[in-house]
Amino acid sequence: MKPEILLIEPMMPETEARLDAAYQMHRLFGQANPSTLVAEVGPRIRGIVTGGGSGASNELIDALPVLEIIAINGIGTDAVDLERARVRGVRVTTTPDVLTDDVADMAIALMLAVSRRLCPGDRFVREGRWPGGHVPLGRKVSGKRLGILGLGRVGRAIARRAEGFGMTIGYTDLRLIEGVEYHYHPTPEALAGESDFLAVAASGGPGSRGIVNAAVLDALGPEGVLVNVARGSVVDEPALVEALSAGRLGGAGLDVFAHEPEVPPALRQMEIVVLEPHQASATVETRRAMAELVLRSLEAQFAGREPPTAVV
Ligand code: 8YV
Repeated sequence: MKPEILLIEPMMPETEARLDAAYQMHRLFGQANPSTLVAEVGPRIRGIVTGGGSGASNELIDALPVLEIIAINGIGTDAVDLERARVRGVRVTTTPDVLTDDVADMAIALMLAVSRRLCPGDRFVREGRWPGGHVPLGRKVSGKRLGILGLGRVGRAIARRAEGFGMTIGYTDLRLIEGVEYHYHPTPEALAGESDFLAVAASGGPGSRGIVNAAVLDALGPEGVLVNVARGSVVDEPALVEALSAGRLGGAGLDVFAHEPEVPPALRQMEIVVLEPHQASATVETRRAMAELVLRSLEAQFAGREPPTAVV
């Protein structure tokens, strides 16, 4: 009997085909009534495959009595209650390292897109407005000051790329990191006050909720740009909308939002923001590498071995 797995969100067709070949798959997404499916198959589900943003609620975990593994196709564990999983003896795995480059690339792309006005420029050309006028000037990126909130693997990869742009790099984290030459600031506000760009690369969860608040955005200032490739929860979203609307913040490049896939309508009206539907790790190459880790985790678990990328 193939182990039965609950898939929370879609994956690449080739990955889903491999999952279908090895397991009895049940897809929660696109279900008119997900709870009916859970009630029906829940007692037999041994694994969950989910995304970093989607995770798995405690209500769902509690409805799966023989659950052994939650394989997250991502690095964020903030949407899974790790303590609950530990208590239940459920393994949780992630896909570290393979997505670092893509997420850092996206941070740089957003920084450039906002400052160089790529999206308004693109719309200007597409809409045939070029012959009749010109677009406002952008803002320079090279040589500016970049603040990185969360100097983990992604934060460091952003920093390495920014070095190529001749940027001065500062960071904040839970504490000063030994052996790092970038300038450490003890708080997000202090970092923002010394930055032209603030890139959010911190983990989500209760410890970072709303730490990019109105005071931090004000410290970044009317020419400052916020970039978020981490989690929407790290930023106080109403405060962000307010700061952008009032001209107290210069712009924002956002790949993540507080209540995905909902995006505050006010943001959608603004020319000074670039909005992406949580795409930082969404390349064929990276999603393939992530899928490989997910498949390896499931295989190890059901063969009685420790999955290589287990966090619980
Ligand atoms: C993915 C993520 O988009 O790594 C994470 O935690 O949120 C992203 O890389 C996601 O896991 C796929 O849904």
